[in-house]
Amino acid sequence: MSHAVFPDPAVWQILFNRQVENLKTKACPEFFAGLERLGFEAGEVPVLDHLSQRLYQLNGWQIQRVPGIVDAGDFLAMLADRIFPSTYFLRSMAQLDYLEEPDMFHDLFGHLPLLADPAFSEFYKKLGALGVAVHGNTEALERIERFYWYTVEFGLVAAPAGGVQIYGSGLLSSFGESRQIYGGAVEIRPFDLVEILELPFDKSQMQPVYYVVPDFEFLFGQLEKLASAGLALRPVLS
Ligand SMILES: [Fe+2]
Repeated sequence: MSHAVFPDPAVWQILFNRQVENLKTKACPEFFAGLERLGFEAGEVPVLDHLSQRLYQLNGWQIQRVPGIVDAGDFLAMLADRIFPSTYFLRSMAQLDYLEEPDMFHDLFGHLPLLADPAFSEFYKKLGALGVAVHGNTEALERIERFYWYTVEFGLVAAPAGGVQIYGSGLLSSFGESRQIYGGAVEIRPFDLVEILELPFDKSQMQPVYYVVPDFEFLFGQLEKLASAGLALRPVLS
């Protein structure tokens, strides 16, 4: 896939304005707090160095520019070091709603607001550390990837007034998929650790099932449970 050399500010502006408006009734409050903390604006394509400095001042995390998808083991090792890899290409105007791979709107708008949250950034780091701890164990790594997928990328959290709110970055950065959650045609299940660890996912299409946690304390507890189960995940959990 070839990418334009410079992100198109008009594309950023459209994506940003459209998604902030769309997420007002959908995203968890931590997302909006993070958006503000980081100083994201519609009229300005973020500069990775500036954003990285701001994040570093907030909680010691840094952003490292990468050309595309990073191998799972390397990705988790970066998280363990409080480094978040981000692309620096932006979809074109013709690709507003369809992407073959994550771009900077996904990486920055989708991931960084929650990463600016103190508790959530620790969650990212612990997930990374867990990946480092199982280095070389393909099966264990795959389970950590699934955990990451059904939480960090596509997770939902119970809304205080009923219903669900989005905290997963894949949903936060997708206009179509975030709306689909509220369309009544998708399956939303209570978070089940054993189930998600065994459930393969397909990156090439919208997800057929989403998992909702009652709150973030519960989510962080699930990671502790996964970590304490070590390499013998299934026998310990079932
Ligand atoms: Fe992502």
